[in-house]
Amino acid sequence: MSRPDPAWSMTECGFDRDRASYHETVLTVGNGRLGTRGSLEEGHRGALSGTYLAGVYDAHDAPVIDLVNAPDWLDTRVEVDGLALDVDSAEVVDHERTLDLRTGLLHRSTVFAGPDGSRTRLTTTRLASMADRDLCALRVAVTPLDRAATVVIVTGIDGRRHNLDRLPHYPSGLAPPPERRWDKWARSTHLATAARGVTGDGETGFLVADTIDSGIRIAYACAVQPVVAPDRHGWLSEHGRVARRLEFAVAAGATVVVDKLVGVATSRDPGTTGEPLGRATATVAAHRAGGFDGAARDSAAAWDLLWRDSEPRIVGHDKDAFALRFGVYHLLIAANPDDPTVSIGAKSMSGEGYRGHVFWDSEILLLPFYVYTQPRTARALLGYRYHTLPGARELSAEHGTRGARYAWESADTGREECPLWTPDGTDRFWTRDEEIHVSADVAYAIAEYVAVTGDERLLLDAGAEILFETSRFWVSRLEERDDGTLGLSDVMGPDEFHSHVAENAFTNRMVRWHLTEAVAVHRRLAETAPDRLAEIAATIGLTAGEVAGWERAAARVRAVADPDAGVIEQFEGYFTRRELPIESWDDNDMPRYPRGYHHFNLEDTTLLKQPDAVMLMYLLPDEYSPATQLANFEYYEARTLHKSSLSPSIHAIVGLQVGDATRAVQYFERSAYVDLDDNQGNTAEGMHIAAAAGTWQVAVHGFGGMRRRGGRLTFGPRLPQRWERLQFTVRWRGHALEVDLGHTESTFILRAPDGVREEIVVAGEPLELLAGHPATVKTAPPA
Ligand code: BGC
Repeated sequence: MSRPDPAWSMTECGFDRDRASYHETVLTVGNGRLGTRGSLEEGHRGALSGTYLAGVYDAHDAPVIDLVNAPDWLDTRVEVDGLALDVDSAEVVDHERTLDLRTGLLHRSTVFAGPDGSRTRLTTTRLASMADRDLCALRVAVTPLDRAATVVIVTGIDGRRHNLDRLPHYPSGLAPPPERRWDKWARSTHLATAARGVTGDGETGFLVADTIDSGIRIAYACAVQPVVAPDRHGWLSEHGRVARRLEFAVAAGATVVVDKLVGVATSRDPGTTGEPLGRATATVAAHRAGGFDGAARDSAAAWDLLWRDSEPRIVGHDKDAFALRFGVYHLLIAANPDDPTVSIGAKSMSGEGYRGHVFWDSEILLLPFYVYTQPRTARALLGYRYHTLPGARELSAEHGTRGARYAWESADTGREECPLWTPDGTDRFWTRDEEIHVSADVAYAIAEYVAVTGDERLLLDAGAEILFETSRFWVSRLEERDDGTLGLSDVMGPDEFHSHVAENAFTNRMVRWHLTEAVAVHRRLAETAPDRLAEIAATIGLTAGEVAGWERAAARVRAVADPDAGVIEQFEGYFTRRELPIESWDDNDMPRYPRGYHHFNLEDTTLLKQPDAVMLMYLLPDEYSPATQLANFEYYEARTLHKSSLSPSIHAIVGLQVGDATRAVQYFERSAYVDLDDNQGNTAEGMHIAAAAGTWQVAVHGFGGMRRRGGRLTFGPRLPQRWERLQFTVRWRGHALEVDLGHTESTFILRAPDGVREEIVVAGEPLELLAGHPATVKTAPPA
């Protein structure tokens, strides 16, 4: 195989059972419509394989709805003179896999040896096409290295899939060996095979399966194309599986190559008509002539465009540069600009952690990356919140409130999917009841998208209705206090260690911001699009009087308004909770839980899981004076345990914002390396995709100091010493802005039609850019 550039390669060298599930996650291929973990094509004992299709959820047989572990399109077994080439049956002499981040191709080369010492090389290349998101492709090549042999390749589609469900209780201290690591987990079944077989022309195998509870039809069609004619071949169709068997007599040192094209379709694919099987078969037919090479070429071309818009470059520190790029790769395979009915689960489609559920991560951590580099994708992600608005209305009604309330954990319908209890049944999850701030986070993301892209249409199509319906929720949820103010009891802020609190500063402040924004949008649309506004109002029965009520309510919400507020009390009574010192730090220099404490018993202490008041400083930086921001950062940072992978990136950014860069690099590392180094020990369950986006934000918003302020983009670069330059491109109101930041001087180029001008602010000074003309400015006084 041609060697991809090491700066763009995620590599696995040698097969290590202990690390196998980690590699399955980090070597995931995908295209936003599906993700396929980096499992070996033939599987192995202890594998945690899976393909996940965006939006395909099912609850059958499982206590909580799952993103379904869909049919496996890799499904390949190879035998050489009767010896199965897999890591359980043959000796692994050599094994290397490389994920080429630039093209999305995963290459593999494994040399196996049999009991008699004879060696065979198995190489594969796989892709989930970025050019046609309904297409996956696999190339398998087998070379008996030192003797002639009979090679059998069986490859097809396997629908006998299950999701991992509940972890078993192991007696303490007992850790099962890696090959049995997942054996005792309960598993849930979501698929029932509806049809399987071979199409009339005998060329294409197919498998159709239905999700049992949600009734989604999934169809895969696959063409298996040997490069040279096999000596024998035929299709196998067994329970839940269809595969083509090809047998070749191969001379010593010769290679047989088999290509496989797989078309994927479901009955939930938006904008499609016709039976999924017909569409899956048509996909394969359309790519048959171009074959594997054509599919790889087209996909690589689509990747080029994605990287053109989204590649951040760190010059001077290869390791950080790679970590950032690796995160962006995973962000690019997590979302689909063409599907406005799905969003990104907490582990993207790279694993079953959090069961594919969508959190506030999507709007607050993930969205900025897409808004600034792939705005069409950002729009689609917000579309998901419109698609699930009916579910949010139902959820609000269930709680006796009006309008729409977004679920803490959302899946296909928008109803609440967060389990009630921890899997072992010992602790209640109050997040589902109390982390209501998510509705304001959705509103915030809509406003951010519109401000950065200038795409006011989003408001007309979806955004305004969301803003209005969620405002209704807030005014019906707010409680009247004795002093005439409005507050919120029984809530939980982003810091999940404290439940049932009142007047959480973050939630209250965001509610006030949300109501104010809704009123402003209503006013703006009354001028710019009165007819459409009237339609929206008629649809949801909104009156001008109700909107005026939001304005009055916003003014009464108990929220710290004083920009010089000093340290803001996280919630009523927080300052009276017990101070518990942090006394121990892990290898990554992150705090450990104090002895005897865990996630669920820190209620009466001042320790935090993740930023809460500090999150306000990050989202609403103009609302607090620099001194207040610094005071809050210093106070809360000292009490934060960072037990969420969302925490370090926000601390890095706010630290830089308040001029405290002490730990910025450390926080960057914690975020950037969370999966590369598996620094939370659970990468096997999927990528911490919000941390990947948080890492991008640390680079761009933190070290690059880029923020949107007063209708302009502002920059205040403060690069780590170990970086020479930071380069990236952002989209701003339909144009591209190329940014090249250094320690002492920075260059900006506006890419827009001739004559277009745009004002930005650099290190506090306005800078006018003229399209196509680079502007270089001093960004820091010479040392
Ligand atoms: C964090 C939440 C986050 C969720 C999913 C939790 O551990 O506390 O803020 O939304 O993980 O990533």
